[in-house]
Amino acid sequence: MRRIISVSTLVVLFATFAPATPAQTPGTGRLMREKLAHTQRILEALTTSNYDLLARESVALSQVTNAPAWTVLKMPEYRRQSDEFLRITEDLAAAAKDRDLDLAAMRFGALTMSCYQCHRYIKNMRLAR
Ligand code: HEC
Repeated sequence: MRRIISVSTLVVLFATFAPATPAQTPGTGRLMREKLAHTQRILEALTTSNYDLLARESVALSQVTNAPAWTVLKMPEYRRQSDEFLRITEDLAAAAKDRDLDLAAMRFGALTMSCYQCHRYIKNMRLAR
């Protein structure tokens, strides 16, 4: 009996303290999904010339970086990627405010590159571990 208890205690301890895959908590997952939804609505705004939606969703996307769940990773490179992402979302919001759809479309291209680059960085970091 004693042995069974200690084994299950170990299992619980391991499950609690095992080094988790960096970055993913339920909160992060939800936030990252919201990020995708904003990006899809930005594409919708661009393709329907909806400036208000474009401005609103660009600002909402930039604010994702303020959430505590966004800064789960503390590495300098993650911060650099995150700063770049923030800069692009702000540029996008500025283009929306100026009602410059061509510029906004170009910045949307830069935005998708920034999604891809940060994700590639995280993937490579995991492979290297
Ligand atoms: C600064 C880094 C960074 C940038 C930029 C970034 N992401 Fe992410 N994203 C993450 C991290 C970290 C996770 C969590 C991944 C993990 O732990 O597997 C994530 C997860 C996701 C997920 C999966 C969510 C889930 O269901 O678990 C989606 C979808 C996603 N991102 C979309 C995007 C889109 C769209 C963009 C661009 C608008 C973007 N990301 C830009 C860091 C970033």
